[in-house]
Amino acid sequence: MKIKKRFVCQECGYDSPKWMGKCPGCDTWNKMVEETGSARLPDLGLSKGLYALPKLMGEIEYDGQFRIRTGIEEMDRVFGGGIVEGSLILIGGDPGIGKSTLLLQICDALASKHGEILYVSGEESAGQIKMRANRLNITGESMYLVSETNMTQIQSHISRIKPKFLVIDSIQTVYDDELSSAPGSVSQVRECTSVFMELSKREGMCIFLVGHVTKEGAIAGPRVLEHMVDTVLYFEGDKHHTYRVIRAIKNRFGSTNEIGLFEMKESGLEEVSNPSELMLSGRSKGASGSVVLCSMEGTRPMLVEIQALVSSTAFGMARRTSAGIDYNRIVLLMAVLEKKAGMQLYDQDVYVNVAGGFKVEEPAADLAVVTAVASSIRNVPIPHDTVVMGEVGLTGEIRGISRIESRIIESSRMGFKTCVIPKDNIKGLKTEANMQILGVKSIPEALKYIIGR
Ligand code: TYD
Ligand code: MG
Repeated sequence: MKIKKRFVCQECGYDSPKWMGKCPGCDTWNKMVEETGSARLPDLGLSKGLYALPKLMGEIEYDGQFRIRTGIEEMDRVFGGGIVEGSLILIGGDPGIGKSTLLLQICDALASKHGEILYVSGEESAGQIKMRANRLNITGESMYLVSETNMTQIQSHISRIKPKFLVIDSIQTVYDDELSSAPGSVSQVRECTSVFMELSKREGMCIFLVGHVTKEGAIAGPRVLEHMVDTVLYFEGDKHHTYRVIRAIKNRFGSTNEIGLFEMKESGLEEVSNPSELMLSGRSKGASGSVVLCSMEGTRPMLVEIQALVSSTAFGMARRTSAGIDYNRIVLLMAVLEKKAGMQLYDQDVYVNVAGGFKVEEPAADLAVVTAVASSIRNVPIPHDTVVMGEVGLTGEIRGISRIESRIIESSRMGFKTCVIPKDNIKGLKTEANMQILGVKSIPEALKYIIGR
């Protein structure tokens, strides 16, 4: 076996044959650590397919059966219609967000239909996992649990059980004793992941890796990890709210636009099939500075409430604060509102918030932000059955947005009566929704419709 010595940056995984003070990969200082790594692939004696001969495209068989549906609708959507056989999936998220809970529930859904599962935990004992399973009401037939961190041991468990699905909770706790570095270091994580990658491709096994997240929010240690796996999912949520969002950051087998929504309950994660209802619960009718927007999350429309509060600046510079919407976007929209709609904002503090702690990233939220702020300044409430959406340009024009039909249908389904949309979207609009639809071209025109001046 070839043992090679190298210096690896603990931040980004940059690897060099000699020591350097500053990492050329990420420009951090003093992060290069000497590690001995072995370039080797484990052989579990189960080999099939890896060393196959090249075939013509036409000879390769594919009957569309490679996706395995978990039966958890929200999860399947994020995977792009089900888990692809032989894929390596990384799930990241803050501590305590519910990664282990989610995986246990996925395993339960899979085990009942698709055979053996091995759940390897490096963080909890088998008894502790069992305790969680009891709380979640999971019986776990055909599901093996083991508390183990040694790679050699894990491999021997795998070759004995030959599971169809494997869960490693978490990849940072697993170590290979042939490497000198500590568990969780870049070379450990990388070597162990490459073993799992091999396994998944060769055996057609689906492997879930749990990854810890650093303070900055990236999956700990290695960016390298993200390049090695097929799918990277982030499980996120606000600690003050019970709902959780699962998002694909990378997906070799599906779109990365889709999200899955769950609510964390005592009995585990529950799917949220009607997100608009959840987002709008607790809305106070008739208050100024509040407006409803229909935002798209992938292919799914979702109604969210945008709130704004404007108050006079006590001293010095006016502040803009935002939660759930990009700060720079707010600054820009306030400038447009000041210049193009003649609202005096330079001596006003502006606070914008997406109710429920949700994040809205698309520009279709612009018009809602602008109208919510205007409603707060003028102290005129926006009619509670009105939905507002559109992108605002720098000249104060309202620009068209995508998927207008599904947004209108969702608004109508939730009982809204009026939709204010960009005029550009009116052309060719086909909808049977029983709604009043108003097309607007500029901010002043929109404000005249919505708040009357
Ligand atoms: P867990 O899956 O352990 O999180 P992770 O693996 O991401 O660190 O989930 C922990 C969450 O489970 C915790 O934040 C709240 C929830 N929870 C309950 O709702 N009820 C309970 O009795 C317990 C123990 C946890
Ligand atoms: Mg956990």
